[in-house]
Amino acid sequence: MKKILVTGGAGFIGSHVVRQFVNKYREYHIFNLDKLTYAGNLENLTDTDKAPNYTFIKGDICDAEFIQNLFSVHRFDGVIHLAAESHVDRSITNPMEFVQTNVIGTVTLLNAFKSFCNKDSAIFYHVSTDEVYGELSDEGKFTETTSYSPNSPYSASKASSDHFVRAYHETYGIQIRISNCSNNYGSHHFPEKLIPLMINNILNKKPLPVYGRGENVRDWLFVEDHAKAIDTIFHNGRNGETYNIGGNNEWKNIDLVKLLCNQMDEKLGNPNNTSSQLISYVTDRAGHDFRYAIDSSKLMNELGWNPSVTFEQGLSKTIDWYLANKTWLDHVTSGAYQKYYEQMYK
Ligand code: NAD
Ligand code: DAU
Repeated sequence: MKKILVTGGAGFIGSHVVRQFVNKYREYHIFNLDKLTYAGNLENLTDTDKAPNYTFIKGDICDAEFIQNLFSVHRFDGVIHLAAESHVDRSITNPMEFVQTNVIGTVTLLNAFKSFCNKDSAIFYHVSTDEVYGELSDEGKFTETTSYSPNSPYSASKASSDHFVRAYHETYGIQIRISNCSNNYGSHHFPEKLIPLMINNILNKKPLPVYGRGENVRDWLFVEDHAKAIDTIFHNGRNGETYNIGGNNEWKNIDLVKLLCNQMDEKLGNPNNTSSQLISYVTDRAGHDFRYAIDSSKLMNELGWNPSVTFEQGLSKTIDWYLANKTWLDHVTSGAYQKYYEQMYK
């Protein structure tokens, strides 16, 4: 039985990756290593945690002794590395935490992988972001050959970890894959990020904080399509290669928030425009990247991946999930979340 380690599997995307692999590959044993920071939540995996081919391990990817020990015992056949600090706004207030987890944590894993995993067959897969490429103006898309030009402490830390993964491939000959994906949305998304924050605020009739003029553009991909892309790249991608993943689905923030308001009003039975009256323009994010857009043609043409869900379907499914899981939302927005929210949006 192959042993696959998923790091950060209790987070938003990680939990979807764990679900995808545990359910589809009964011949693998999936280990989920997660520190359970504010963003990690075992309630994201209540449908998976009893599976016989699944084990949760609580631990920190920066703890070198613990990681070396774990790898020496299991000698994993594959690592799908998602554990990270992932929120751009938090990286602006606390960059060092991002250096620690995203850079030091990644190198700690690479060292253990290099020492204990089979160089000829084991794969180290780094799940990364399109933000490493910087920002675009109105025209063009990021391709795999676009130069790195990260603008936030978060994207700088992810760019750095991408470089370390490539460097370990070149220097030590380990087998790697890297993917750089656009903005994900879907169930179990922590409500510090745009879409779940707006859903939560609409439910609580709180102001909807739109940064600047709301003109910034993001490309949105349904998280289950990202998990399927990771599955495809892990199994069929070429050694040493990078693949861009995107939804071909660009939205100005303000248009997206208005669409969300309309869908929420419809589902909640509110009169039209009730929710959009909550929109409030607030101070812009420092160094706010204007636009991201991804060219995924390499992944589509070489490996046959395509997004399976339209944005209207995906957004509707996402809202339905939040409406049906208010207890999940209550749990993650109690305690520390309140403090974060007050500091961030005071
Ligand atoms: P998330 O913040 O929801 O989850 C991160 C997970 O990592 C949490 O479960 C957390 O507990 C865990 N973690 C953090 N520090 C750890 C440590 N030191 N040791 C072990 N576990 C630790 O993040 P996400 O949005 O699911 O993103 C997952 C990955 O995908 C990240 O690497 C991120 O950079 C990348 N990514 C995210 C998006 C997106 O839109 N969310 C898009 C592209 C790439
Ligand atoms: O592009 C991929 C990246 O997408 C991932 O690597 C990151 O982990 C993920 O967090 C996401 O980064 P963004 O900064 O694009 O996502 P966020 O949801 O924070 O913001 C989306 C857009 O909405 C961005 O232009 C900022 C804006 N925004 C965000 C928040 C939280 C607002 O206008 N108001 C808000 O309250």
